[in-house]
Amino acid sequence: MERRVVIVGAGAMGRSWAKNLQGCGKTLIVGWVDLNHDLATQAVDDLDLDDIVTGDELEPVVEKAKPDFIVDVTSPEAHRDITVKALKMGLPVIGEKPMTTSIENAKEMVKASEESGKLYMVSQSRRYNAQLAAYKKLVQELGPLGILNADFYLGAHFGGFRDEMKSPLILDMAIHTFDAARYISDTDPELVYCEEFNPSWSWYKGDACAYALFDMEGGLRFCYRGGWCTEGRHTSWESEWRSIGPKGSATWDGSGAPRAETVKKQSGFFSETDSKTEKGDEASPVGINGSIRDFLNALDHNTTPMGECHDNIKSFAMVLGAMESSDTGKRVNIANMLK
Ligand SMILES: NC(=O)c1ccc[n+]([C@@H]2O[C@H](COP(=O)([O-])OP(=O)(O)OC[C@H]3O[C@@H](n4cnc5c(N)ncnc54)[C@H](O)[C@@H]3O)[C@@H](O)[C@H]2O)c1
Repeated sequence: MERRVVIVGAGAMGRSWAKNLQGCGKTLIVGWVDLNHDLATQAVDDLDLDDIVTGDELEPVVEKAKPDFIVDVTSPEAHRDITVKALKMGLPVIGEKPMTTSIENAKEMVKASEESGKLYMVSQSRRYNAQLAAYKKLVQELGPLGILNADFYLGAHFGGFRDEMKSPLILDMAIHTFDAARYISDTDPELVYCEEFNPSWSWYKGDACAYALFDMEGGLRFCYRGGWCTEGRHTSWESEWRSIGPKGSATWDGSGAPRAETVKKQSGFFSETDSKTEKGDEASPVGINGSIRDFLNALDHNTTPMGECHDNIKSFAMVLGAMESSDTGKRVNIANMLK
């Protein structure tokens, strides 16, 4: 059965979603909304789509196109309005990250999902990565983690809105790494201390670098170091990772195969260790395709997908907590933010 979908937002990512929805073979695009109607009609023309209702407002397009679900790929400031409206119309929503722009908005979105009984999932597309899943598997062999580090260093010359934002790295990108930390460790955040800063050579107006130290459940410390104005010797977009537990350590450079060394025999100065690597399942869908598969599967079988709003709000709160800590110079209690 093909599920009917209306896309909201016809920017670069809206087009990318349309291509993935077309490619998955299980959905039919029946409508496209953008505040700038011309962008929606242009996207429909460019992608050779037929019989699509377009408009600059959600409700009339939904009335005519009769979708089964909505993809919210508007800019973050619009996510709350679009998602809450769609849920109240009885439609499940899969939306882009970040969930929204404040914790109050995020809680309102979760409540709208509860009250309507409809699924709201945030697409954390970078979770759908075979090597990341393989790394998580290796990490599980280390015992309860005590140390988790992620380094993210790229020299990204985007131009446009990111160059003007207050916290381009933390707000626009770090959600992926913070969310991956929760995924890898299977723990949720409790406290954060963060400092954002902008090196003398930065081409960004806002702070493009940060150090953040999270206290996660069970005593795990997650240390994030990141920079978006760092030229040369780039890390991957997935970050470089080190996980350490009582039985050993596992590393992943964010692109190749992850590796672990676990204690075989404790004797002498250094313990004897076994080396292990894990291969990811290359057949599993990657990125947005993975999000779409999970979302459709949840609709078909009433399961809870990764990124379901009650879960994703915890990754989003890591971003807000880090920014608040950087502003105030104090540790922020993320667990309290979520109450
Ligand atoms: N997962 C990823 O790797 C990734 C990468 C890039 C962007 N994103 C996310 O995707 C989303 C969209 O990003 P983009 O780069 O396409 O942005 P964009 O600014 O190019 O496009 C957003 C579109 O939404 C439209 N819009 C805004 N408010 C609206 C409203 N109320 N109703 C209808 N349309 C509205 C705008 O007119 C614009 O055309 C953002 O949340 C962004 O963070 C995710």
